[in-house]
Amino acid sequence: MRLGILTGGGDCPGLNAVIRAAVVRTVRSRDGQIVGFLDGWKGVLEGRTCELTLQSIRGILPQGGTMLGTSRVDPVRQAGGVEGVRRALALFELDGLIVCGGDGTLNAAATLAEAGMPMLGVPKTIDNDVRGTDYSVGADTALAHVSHAIDALHSTAESHDRVIVVETMGRSVGWLAVAAGLAGGSDVTLSPEEPMSVQQVCDFIRHRKARGRDFSIVVVAEGARFLPDPDGSVLQMPERLDEFGRPRFGGIGDVLARAIEDRLKIETRTVALGYVQRGGTPTAFDRLLGTRMGMHAVDLAAAGQFGRMVALQGPDITSVPLSVVRAGPRPTSPELLEAARCFFG
Ligand code: F6P
Repeated sequence: MRLGILTGGGDCPGLNAVIRAAVVRTVRSRDGQIVGFLDGWKGVLEGRTCELTLQSIRGILPQGGTMLGTSRVDPVRQAGGVEGVRRALALFELDGLIVCGGDGTLNAAATLAEAGMPMLGVPKTIDNDVRGTDYSVGADTALAHVSHAIDALHSTAESHDRVIVVETMGRSVGWLAVAAGLAGGSDVTLSPEEPMSVQQVCDFIRHRKARGRDFSIVVVAEGARFLPDPDGSVLQMPERLDEFGRPRFGGIGDVLARAIEDRLKIETRTVALGYVQRGGTPTAFDRLLGTRMGMHAVDLAAAGQFGRMVALQGPDITSVPLSVVRAGPRPTSPELLEAARCFFG
């Protein structure tokens, strides 16, 4: 058996655990070979690979990022991209390709699978918004980073009687903000799934003050949406696009902080956590998840079960059709949103 593997989209901790496990499973358990494509789909289209051996993966388990590199190149959106992938599979004589990615990367894999190519998906994203799996690789580490940041910000916010607005990643889904807000004890959390007006946010802060709590921690997902205030005004960010034409987020925390300070006359500061959330060594959970998922992907390939995505469901590693990603990112569960709401104000 000869397999390929790539990591696409935003990097995250735990990807190296997937790669390491896929290599060990292929070489040791299946007596096969595995080729790593560099920089996601870009490396597939350009035929850039690196040899993956038991030696080349030494020491990568605790390392963040991905030893293969990544990019947001999407073969399905490029002229000739689909045929380019087919050619690469033939050129490198691959029986299957393991694709570790989030929504965009896995959607491309689903299209290629529908075009008859032997694709296998491994879900990874700090946003934890891939359908069909309880957890994606990288989400737990990001959750730990954000909740630790919220912990640290409590003491300084309390000492200065300030409001601190913590901006997290999460463009269309606010799982990271909501889960970290709950784990870190935020006083309000704003997510794309649950729009709020600035007035409502200020009311929660006022309510806390009335209870004798002179500081507040407000967590806001970068893609949070706002409801109109009673005067009809709506807090909005100017739209910017990245080089792939996707909306570029970041900055809502500052805009919200200024609006809170203007209205409440309480000193308000912002912390945009940015790429710190995606960096660093993976948690034990992500190492274990990445390892189990990487192994399962190889086992699926050995069984000839292509067109599937590895998934964690409850305590079990299983698989679902890759086409589950067609329905778009999974919103945060109503149960988690409701639990978070219980602690506001
Ligand atoms: O991979 C998901 C993600 O981390 C989102 O939460 C975030 O909006 C986006 O990536 C940032 O993308 P980039 O790395 O291209 O700036």
